[in-house]
Amino acid sequence: MELTNQEQELLNGEKGQATQKAMQILVALGKIYGADKMIRVSSVQVAAVSYKTLGDAGIEYLEEMVKGGAKVQVKTFLNPAGLDRDQWKQMKFPEKFAKRSFEALDCYQKMGIAMTCTCTPYLIGIQPKVGEHIAWAESSAVSFANSVLGARTNREGGPSALAAAICGVTPNYGLHLDENRASEVTVKVETEVKTSAGFGALGAFVGNQAKHRHPSFIGIKNAKQDQLKGLGAAMAAWGSVALYYVKGITPEYIVSDSAEQITVEKNELEEMKEKMGVKEKPELVTIGCPHASFEEIEEVANLVKGKKLGCKLWVCTAKKTKEKAKQAGFVSIIEEAGGKVVADTCMVVCPLEEMGYKITGCNSGKAAKYLASACKQKVVYGNIEDLVFK
Ligand code: F3S
Repeated sequence: MELTNQEQELLNGEKGQATQKAMQILVALGKIYGADKMIRVSSVQVAAVSYKTLGDAGIEYLEEMVKGGAKVQVKTFLNPAGLDRDQWKQMKFPEKFAKRSFEALDCYQKMGIAMTCTCTPYLIGIQPKVGEHIAWAESSAVSFANSVLGARTNREGGPSALAAAICGVTPNYGLHLDENRASEVTVKVETEVKTSAGFGALGAFVGNQAKHRHPSFIGIKNAKQDQLKGLGAAMAAWGSVALYYVKGITPEYIVSDSAEQITVEKNELEEMKEKMGVKEKPELVTIGCPHASFEEIEEVANLVKGKKLGCKLWVCTAKKTKEKAKQAGFVSIIEEAGGKVVADTCMVVCPLEEMGYKITGCNSGKAAKYLASACKQKVVYGNIEDLVFK
């Protein structure tokens, strides 16, 4: 792998210990995946922010990087943290968890990373263009950036994303190369999919079959940006899809001549929805996986206005989006109905199980998967209106 003089200096430790460690990670990755060189990235999204995913060892690693002088060289922003920084006491987050979460956030801040705490950076103004090289880490954001925005990113891990931020480069392999971006499985959708829960189920069904491949959809006539984010998130969770195409919708549509063909019919989606949850009354309903857009918060506000909810409700979003929704009056409408607009965190990376929740409802394919596996929840899957008034 060829390194520029400047990159070689970083590897030699001429810019400090932390930068040397970061470059060592990138070079090791480049060698494993056969990269010919490093390429510059215009932005980095760092994941592994919650104490739940980092653990004590993760925080120690961050502290060591801070001590070694780590500073990011490109625009870098954070995935959701383990708690809502403003409401954690009121929401009864455990004290020890909060303390460790703030210590992790403090390390990231010292490295110069923006405290966005969201998995939808593209909804708060961070929108790379078609062909732009980036290094993002959260799987739904990776999928959205590659597919809906047409940017180029691999699915980075916590350490590799942080290393890219510190060095400003990433190894040139995988989805940075055009030859690795053709779809190998075409999905013919033979039913109309309209709701978020429907797109989540479609993503779960296709993710299961596509695994790590790039699906190309035909037959999806209309899909809002929010539904695409839900589709991509579900495929990333139920498979490990990092790139997909939708004919007539995504900016690119590249399909290999030898692509396998699969068809999805109405009964398959209905069966998938059944498998994704149990038929019980949820204690808590969580919306916003990936983080809710302003429009989704507006939809929830319109739905619950003047009503009383049958359970707790969290609408998870970015702080910036919450501020906008607050100004529009949507946050108070949701609160009057008994719900909460939760910023900085989400239902999966917060300590839901420690907080006593056992049965959680959602309309997201990704949340359905991880609420069960990572949060020990019984999942109730469906459309929001069917969940909150149960
Ligand atoms: Fe985002 Fe959490 Fe879902 S990070 S994609 S809301 S699991």
